Amino acid sequence: MTGRFITLEGGEGVGKSTQIRAMATLLEARGIDVVATREPGGSAGAEAIRTLLMEGSDDRWNARSEALLFAAARADHVARTIRPALALGAWVICDRYVDSSRAYQGSGGGITDADLLALHAVGSEGLLPDRTFLLTVSPEEAARRVTERGGSDRMGNKPADYQARLAARFVEMAKAEPERWRIIDADVSADEVAAAILAELEDWLP
Ligand code: TYD
Repeated sequence: MTGRFITLEGGEGVGKSTQIRAMATLLEARGIDVVATREPGGSAGAEAIRTLLMEGSDDRWNARSEALLFAAARADHVARTIRPALALGAWVICDRYVDSSRAYQGSGGGITDADLLALHAVGSEGLLPDRTFLLTVSPEEAARRVTERGGSDRMGNKPADYQARLAARFVEMAKAEPERWRIIDADVSADEVAAAILAELEDWLP
C-alpha cells in the first residue's frame, strides 16, 4: 500500500496554507487518510531547524549554509513523517518542498539547480512528489495578501524584483516537468482554487 505525495508551491501570499486545509477536508470527505504538513518543518527535528532559519537577522546565514539547513530539515521530515505516512497508504499534502529550495536558494541565492538536486539526493534520497501544484497570483494581489496577514518573516523579507524572479523560476520549473506540475490560477476565490486542485486529482480518487 502506498499513498500519494502532493505538494503546493508558489511565492508568498498565494494562499497555500488555506488550500492545504481545504484539500485535507475535501480528501478526508472521500475517505482518504490525509497527512497535512509544511516545510521547513513537519517533524520535531525539522521544526527545530525551522526556528534557526526563520528567526534572526537577514544575514544570519549565507546562501550555502541556508541551502544545507533546508536540505537537512527536509531529510528529517522525509524520514520521520513523509515516508512513514506514504507507507501506511496516507496522502501527504505538503506546503512547500524541494522546489522551494530550487526557486529560493537557486534563483534567489545563486546555488545551481544541479547542486540543490544533489543535496536532495543525499538528504532525502531524491524523493519527489507525485503531483505539484503551482499557485500563481498577480504581484499586486500577492502584496495585498502579505500585508493583510501582517508582513513577512526573515525569509519573506526581500525586494519586489526578487519576488518576480521567484515567480518566473517556479513557472519555468513547472513547464519543464509538465507530468508532475499543474499551474493553478489563485487570483480567484479560495473555493474556486480548491475545486481546480481537486479536479486535477480526480483520477486518483477512490
Ligand atoms: P513560511 O512562513 O512557511 O511562508 P510561506 O507562507 O511563504 O510558505 O516560510 C517559509 C519561507 O521559507 C518562505 O519565505 C520560503 C522559504 N523557503 C526557502 O527559501 N527554501 C525552502 O526550501 C523552503 C521549504 C522554504
